[in-house]
Amino acid sequence: MINTNQKTVGIDDIALYVPKLFISALGEFAAARNIEPAKLSRGIGVEKMAVPDAHEDAATMAAMSVLELMKRNHLKPEQIGRIYLGTESGVDESKAMGTYVIGMLEKVYGKGAFQECSTVEFKSACIGATHALENVSYWLQSLDDEEYVGDENGVKGDDSGKENGVGMVGIVVASDIARYELNSPGEYTQGAGSISMLIKRNPRFLAFDSNFGVCTRDENDFFRPIGMTFAIVNGKYSNYCYLSAMQDAFESYRRRTLNRGTISLNEGECLTDHLSHMVFHIPYPRMAEYAASAIFRLEWRDAPRWQAISEAVGDEPLPEMFQSLDEYLSADNQFRRKFTNTDEFQLAFLQKVKPSTLISSQVGNIYTGSIYLGLTSLLEQSLLHPGQWVGFGSYGSGCTAMFFSGVVQPGIKSLASINVFNRLKKRTEISLDDYQLLHEGQKMTSIISPSDEFVLLKVGQDGYRHYDFVS
Ligand code: HMG
Repeated sequence: MINTNQKTVGIDDIALYVPKLFISALGEFAAARNIEPAKLSRGIGVEKMAVPDAHEDAATMAAMSVLELMKRNHLKPEQIGRIYLGTESGVDESKAMGTYVIGMLEKVYGKGAFQECSTVEFKSACIGATHALENVSYWLQSLDDEEYVGDENGVKGDDSGKENGVGMVGIVVASDIARYELNSPGEYTQGAGSISMLIKRNPRFLAFDSNFGVCTRDENDFFRPIGMTFAIVNGKYSNYCYLSAMQDAFESYRRRTLNRGTISLNEGECLTDHLSHMVFHIPYPRMAEYAASAIFRLEWRDAPRWQAISEAVGDEPLPEMFQSLDEYLSADNQFRRKFTNTDEFQLAFLQKVKPSTLISSQVGNIYTGSIYLGLTSLLEQSLLHPGQWVGFGSYGSGCTAMFFSGVVQPGIKSLASINVFNRLKKRTEISLDDYQLLHEGQKMTSIISPSDEFVLLKVGQDGYRHYDFVS
């Protein structure tokens, strides 16, 4: 297990906000789009997609998950030194979304309560929240003891901070609305929601080891030029970019982890053998299977176990054997289907990866938060145990992939459930008509009248957004 010294930093707790409305992908929607429901449930892995109501946007959803996190942990605003927010659903070209979020939180905690809290919006498609997480972690590690505990003029935590570990904390928020054009292939990979994570020294939940493997390149798989409401998506190519960047990020992570001796391998072992769980960015649940296949193939092809696999499924196609990328991808897809049917893959996938996709199948893509929705799936199914290593494969189009890991901490046993499955059951299903009106911004009144939540009241003539808390 990682040494839990004073500078050990990681996730202490998680809060989730999912809109109260959803559309079933398998009913009216599938019929209207002339798609076999089995394609969506099995081929894509989506059953329901969360839909924001007329009074919601990415900022209200962010404020909702931060508020829940603060209440669950009895946090005082002056303890929170950073609220770093990952989003690609920005509501302003210049003003940080976090300032709107702080404005909303101050409706609850009082004006000026967050004056000494920094906030930055991290835009890097779906990997923005991971960049925020890395940065908040470095900030917490960099604080000296005095800054960490605070002083009587700016009390950060309480006087006994040094002893009991209560000191400055950071919050990482992921909040997004994944929205594609009506009738497009992206439409069944939509969703919405926000996750807030309490980042602390000596966390109860998960401590990071700081081996962040990265791969960045300039790609046109998915991008949203200024002024456009919907992203331009090269769907199949985006899958390829995700998988290829994820493999390179994993290689970078593996090099760092082995060089630094964080994990050591015995003869014939692979690094993924040491990861009890692997949580990937989940634009749709099936993508996690493609990602698992890419990473296991990468590691296993040099291990003794590959002999039995290649006897069963034949040789892997190599890019240099084909004249075009499309031809290679088509051959590679056929090989992947055979590989994912092997017992070796099925065992590893069902144990290490599939359980992380459960909530996503009910919520859809929440972009920056999707990977942490995967972590929440594991938490809520009680699948995480102290001492287990968890690998994270984060991806943002454009593109950057990051692979990193952490160790589940003993304090996880004291975390209260966020009761997500009950909350999801209580949502309201909306009709295709209402979904389409909301999608196109033509529904002016809320489907469910807001209560006990933040609302977008109006957007002023000058574009400034006015929010309130409705009790
Ligand atoms: P598509 O054309 O609907 O998919 O596009 P398909 O025809 O390839 O089918 C998908 C699977 O369903 C296939 O499985 C089919 O066989 C199967 P496979 O062959 O791969 O094993 N299928 C069926 N299964 C059962 N019963 C049936 C049936 N019919 C077919 N009847 C695509 C899918 C994801 C490309 C599209 O929805 C899309 O463009 N989505 C948006 C882009 C996206 O999500 N890309 C993911 C990677 S990029 C990323 O993750 C970043 C992102 O989150 C943004 C960011 O970073 O900000 C998007």
